[in-house]
Amino acid sequence: MTNAVSATEAAPTTTYLKDYQKPDFLIEKTELTFNLYENFTAVTSNLTMVRAEGVEADKPLVLNGVDLVLESLAIDGTDLNQGAYEVGQETLTIKNVPSRFQLSCETRIEPQNNTSLEGLYKSRHMFCTQCEAEGFRKITYYLDRPDVLSEFTTTIIADKHSYPVLLSNGNLIKKGELNGVRHYATWHDPFKKPSYLFALVAGELVSVDDTFTTMSGRTIEIKLYVEEKDLDKCEHALVSLKKAMKWDEDVYGREYDLDIFMIVAVDDFNMGAMENKGLNIFNTSCVLANPEITTDAGFQRVEAVVAHEYFHNWSGNRVTCRDWFQLSLKEGFTVFRDAEFSADMGSRTVKRVEDVGVMRTLQFAEDAGPMSHPVRPASYMEISNFYTLTVYEKGAEVVRMIHTLLGKEDFRKGSDIYFSRHDGEAATIEDFVSAMEEGSGKDLSQFMHWYSQAGTPSVSVSDNYDADKHTYTLTFKQSVPSTPEATSDQKKPFQIPIALGLLGDEGEIPLVVEEQSQNSSRLVDSVLAITQPEQSVTFTQVNEKPVPVMLKNFSAPVKLEYSYSRADLLRIMAVENDGFCRWDASQQLALGVINDCIEKLQQGHSLEAADCDASLIEGYKAILANKDLDLAMVALMLQLPSQAYIAEQFDVIDVDAIYQARKFIGNQIAERLYHELLDSYKHLNSDESYSFNAQAVAKRSLKNTALHYLMKIDNEEVRKQCLAQYSAQNNMTDVSSALRNIVSSPSEALKEIKQQTLAAFYQKWQNEPLVVNLWLSIQATCDLPGTLDEVIKLTKSPVFDLQNPNKVRSLIGAFASQNSINFHIKTGEGYQFLSDQIIKLNLKNPQIAARLITPLTKWKRYDSDRQKLIKQQLERIKAEPKLSKDVFEVVDKSLSV
Ligand code: TRP
Ligand code: ZN
Repeated sequence: MTNAVSATEAAPTTTYLKDYQKPDFLIEKTELTFNLYENFTAVTSNLTMVRAEGVEADKPLVLNGVDLVLESLAIDGTDLNQGAYEVGQETLTIKNVPSRFQLSCETRIEPQNNTSLEGLYKSRHMFCTQCEAEGFRKITYYLDRPDVLSEFTTTIIADKHSYPVLLSNGNLIKKGELNGVRHYATWHDPFKKPSYLFALVAGELVSVDDTFTTMSGRTIEIKLYVEEKDLDKCEHALVSLKKAMKWDEDVYGREYDLDIFMIVAVDDFNMGAMENKGLNIFNTSCVLANPEITTDAGFQRVEAVVAHEYFHNWSGNRVTCRDWFQLSLKEGFTVFRDAEFSADMGSRTVKRVEDVGVMRTLQFAEDAGPMSHPVRPASYMEISNFYTLTVYEKGAEVVRMIHTLLGKEDFRKGSDIYFSRHDGEAATIEDFVSAMEEGSGKDLSQFMHWYSQAGTPSVSVSDNYDADKHTYTLTFKQSVPSTPEATSDQKKPFQIPIALGLLGDEGEIPLVVEEQSQNSSRLVDSVLAITQPEQSVTFTQVNEKPVPVMLKNFSAPVKLEYSYSRADLLRIMAVENDGFCRWDASQQLALGVINDCIEKLQQGHSLEAADCDASLIEGYKAILANKDLDLAMVALMLQLPSQAYIAEQFDVIDVDAIYQARKFIGNQIAERLYHELLDSYKHLNSDESYSFNAQAVAKRSLKNTALHYLMKIDNEEVRKQCLAQYSAQNNMTDVSSALRNIVSSPSEALKEIKQQTLAAFYQKWQNEPLVVNLWLSIQATCDLPGTLDEVIKLTKSPVFDLQNPNKVRSLIGAFASQNSINFHIKTGEGYQFLSDQIIKLNLKNPQIAARLITPLTKWKRYDSDRQKLIKQQLERIKAEPKLSKDVFEVVDKSLSV
């Protein structure tokens, strides 16, 4: 057997949603035995199979299997002879099978050589699995599809000294010694599940244990398994898990079902974590945390991911997906659930603003590029490529819109119907939406377009105030751009919930909709659901021209276009209650000023102080002085729109002008608000011990935002403050923020200190991979010239490991996606560097290789010189003699626009 991934020379085949067919066979029971050795693993499977009702008796059994060596095959205890079956590249076909039978199969695999991190593989000294989406077929021949649900019993046999802990899904039913050196454990999972939820772990692990008492009074055993050295990083995940278990009971009425819930932390993992039934497997980066090594963002991520995977136990496991086109059924819903959980645990507005930031920059960009696809794609070549921002984040926005349109109570009625009706089944998005319709009595047929039409809708708004009649009319026009699967004019209008308010001099104006417009434009709880390509709503009893505040709480994932004056934006920033709109006003104000600067630069002029409009400085000053605002909101409102968000506003992205303009405005703010920022910094800088709660996080966030601005000023006092913050070694949030500022500082005075500090930091943390990753990403995202060379040097140093996805993301991923000025260096060396890495990873780890291509997929958005250079690299990748399906799909689609 070879370890190479299935590679293709011809174009791989495309799978279509419209071709879905029910399975021909069912697997009632699955019994697996794993014999783990250092140079191979023997897998025996015993499947109780039945022909599905209505399937003709001569239909062959076709099982999935990839990179397997078949050792034996029997039906009802009788070995099959060679002519009775056929082993294909990715299948095993058995021509004649009875309507009910026992299929016994023995295969060999080589987990120790499996670098794809799919199927059974080794992470450091530990055996572990990742089966979603189609990894189970790399373990044994099976019906590896989510609509085949089976009851699993798993026996693991391994050396007892190297692998004292043997885990699988469900309950431990038997364990024992075998011959002095080997031992075994048998696990039984009473809940039927598809193969993608199977998991196995074997290793030298220790656990931190806890319990949770459920709403019905059952005691659940909780175990978090880690390597011994990580025992001091488990507390936060355990606390988060118990909060999540309680929250799902309170908010959704969902109780945990098994008597035990286990989490295992592994170092080498393609994604964040995996919701395997009763045995979640986590990337160490999403579960381990303590104040010395983890930033606030890290703590938040752990809390969110632990909750996300836990919530899948109902939205994903108890009710699973019929096929992979329905992926957002579990992911979109579960992201919505975890977002609401995080909002309830910390600051609701901050969480919302952060999520909107991801949507408007990353997801909107994905939706405008060659990989654009609907929340429910109609086709794919490689399903791993569809674990996207669109399926996850836009999918969650779509569920949120249902929540907004139905209201909290009816949404809960709908989810109760969904869970009880489809418990133990593989469901579709229609099933989910039907349950919501039933729970609310509302018609969601037009709403379904959100699942089938790709692209970000634009809603442009115009208004008219009639001072004589005291009426105010808003007119909305919606449109969607063309995307690979449909042109703009083929698309149907969306149902778009727009939460709105009107600001008058004395505050909010009560909303009274004029009777005539009530039929088409009814307002429910200040939410107007627009359904037409063009639609108006008229408000009466409006005694002054108001400032419209629209898309409150980002009520729909659209681009809303309305031309606000700078005075309007300042007004919203100062008095609006909706946190998202308040923050967005500050973003739009800054964006306007930056855009003017970009235009000036493009005309060949240089920028001067007057180009940073006084309104922006005044606005920021007022925010800093506002004592009523949550400090985290202050920090968010003071942060300039990201380069990625600015770039999203342009058809042709001018990398250099965007970078220059944004930097110039940042410097102006630092100079002109120097005293305010310094006061704020000093005021917030304390040596109190670390705690993770919304208030403390908010303080650190504002403090470090202030420091970031201040460090743009090259003076002794600020440098001293920054170095002192670093030396205090108080917590990783403050330390890494100080380090980031030191590393990115152009100051001559810091040149030597910078190198010493980086070296000392590494020296101190070299045995903590998660901190080393932070150290790599701080260097990778430094905007000073010369960073590309540093990054290349780091990839060649022993610190780096191309086989470890976290290292790849921290260094290469961070450089290519968050360091635009260096990645897009005019020579094209950034593109070449990235392509080198993609080619190296193509067959080793196709999933990670394909994800790394993302920054290159957007090539059409850049100037013609850069377009040419990026395209060359895409063509170079495409010309590789063997391409993985994953890489082929992304490169091919990118080049065919
Ligand atoms: N279902 C996982 C989640 O919680 C996603 C996931 C984990 C995954 N590992 C994966 C998807 C590997 C594809 C490949 O979102
Ligand atoms: Zn998920």
